[in-house]
Amino acid sequence: VTPEGTRTEAFAPELLGSPGFREDYGVRYAYAAGSMFRGISSVELVSRMARARLLAFFGAGGLPLETVEEALIALRRRLGDRHAFGVNLLCNPDRAEREEATVSLLLRHDVRHVEAAGVTRVTPSLVRFRFSGAGRDEAGRAVALRNVIAKVSRLDVAGDLLAPPPAGMVDAMAARGELTPQEAEAARALPVVSDLCAEADSGGHTDRRNPHVLLPEFRRLRDGAMARHGYAKPIRVGCAGGLGTPEAVAAAFVAGADFVVTGSVNQCTPQAGTSDAVKDLLTRLGSEDTTYASSPELFELGAQVQVVRRSTVFAPRANRLHQLYRGHDSLEAIDPRHARVVQESWFGKSFEDVWEETRAHIATNRPHDVERAERNPRHRMALVFGWWFARTSRSAVEGDAAGAAEYQIHCGPALGTFNRHVAGSPLEDWRRRDVDAVADVLMRGAAGVLGERLAQFLVPAVSASRNGGEAGREHD
Ligand SMILES: Cc1cc2nc3c(=O)[nH]c(=O)nc-3n(C[C@H](O)[C@H](O)[C@H](O)COP(=O)(O)O)c2cc1C
Repeated sequence: VTPEGTRTEAFAPELLGSPGFREDYGVRYAYAAGSMFRGISSVELVSRMARARLLAFFGAGGLPLETVEEALIALRRRLGDRHAFGVNLLCNPDRAEREEATVSLLLRHDVRHVEAAGVTRVTPSLVRFRFSGAGRDEAGRAVALRNVIAKVSRLDVAGDLLAPPPAGMVDAMAARGELTPQEAEAARALPVVSDLCAEADSGGHTDRRNPHVLLPEFRRLRDGAMARHGYAKPIRVGCAGGLGTPEAVAAAFVAGADFVVTGSVNQCTPQAGTSDAVKDLLTRLGSEDTTYASSPELFELGAQVQVVRRSTVFAPRANRLHQLYRGHDSLEAIDPRHARVVQESWFGKSFEDVWEETRAHIATNRPHDVERAERNPRHRMALVFGWWFARTSRSAVEGDAAGAAEYQIHCGPALGTFNRHVAGSPLEDWRRRDVDAVADVLMRGAAGVLGERLAQFLVPAVSASRNGGEAGREHD
């Protein structure tokens, strides 16, 4: 090792992480741009990444299936079969039929890669996606045609995903004709996921887990599963959450990540499917400008999302609505003074009007929800509050100036750190921050950081041994 020669050659960004990841996805870097709901990770974003030979996932969550289908057609038209891309699969125990319909759509369009999120248990839809087209290769090894990267923050869920799907589920699916005999046989010998991503505290939904705890835990679980099940092909373990600087990305690889996934940094790029108003705001953020708020999608479960707190009252209002929900059995039970503030100042509508509008909106797609709300006033309250959450998200994505004070923008501190990292460079302006350029800054930067650190640690050691251990003795 010399201080000059080896740094860049030894630490090319193309060498960071798992070679198997780069090979399976046909990409340059062991890096992925994670899904962002409602098409924020847009057709534009995914195809820009794919053309740069980088992996990205289309944000199918929260979009009508017809819109997802249009996106799949557009992606195929732009990319053909030459460039790999992926799509998000949101697993929500309350919306199993949506998960099932999404998988049918993805298989119809022969999508090869999904990023699964919100997984709480192994579901038949996930198994159907993963093993559709699976079988044996010429050497007789079980092989899958499709990849599933699951983003997980719970150890029990990670353990289930690293194992083959439950035998009873595979048998029942085979009996129903949802898996062919060959697919079922492969399913018994392969893990549910090809890649497991440790989702540490991140923009959007978060369990606020610490990456330094989660990644080693997941790696240990993976090693155990590999030994127990004797899989021929390694399961890769990656890391997401908080990656907005070369240092953070380098740390993930040093800790053993096979790949990294970014999110927040990609929302402030020309390709992201959100408004210029949001991008202007995001570009000014520091790492201290995000906070936690009640989750719109998992409101009744009390889950949280990480969002922008600067220039918007979304977080305090979302949290207040959740307090009201927790403390009352129905809208009618809320203290009239508080109910008036919410209706007049926040919603600009009465609860009654909001409920009528909501009921009309969901009557066709979610009739069971309407029935449930009419039986259960607390569920009705959740749906009425949900109307406001939907408005705050829509205003942000559309850049509606009238709704600017309550924009709901999912984002973690990674973006603030990225903003500071590129300050003074051309990428300070988001209009020049193409999503693949962001990946390059992070991955090339990470390679540079690793080279510098190693030179720092190794060179004194090398000269110490050359000088007969002088430097070593200094530390005695
Ligand atoms: C605006 C936004 C929307 C997101 N929507 C989704 C989503 O629909 N599905 C999903 O799996 N992850 C979603 N995520 C999470 C990202 O894919 C990624 O895992 C996460 O942002 C990584 O953490 P970071 O934000 O700290 O980089 C979203 C993140 C952001 C910032």
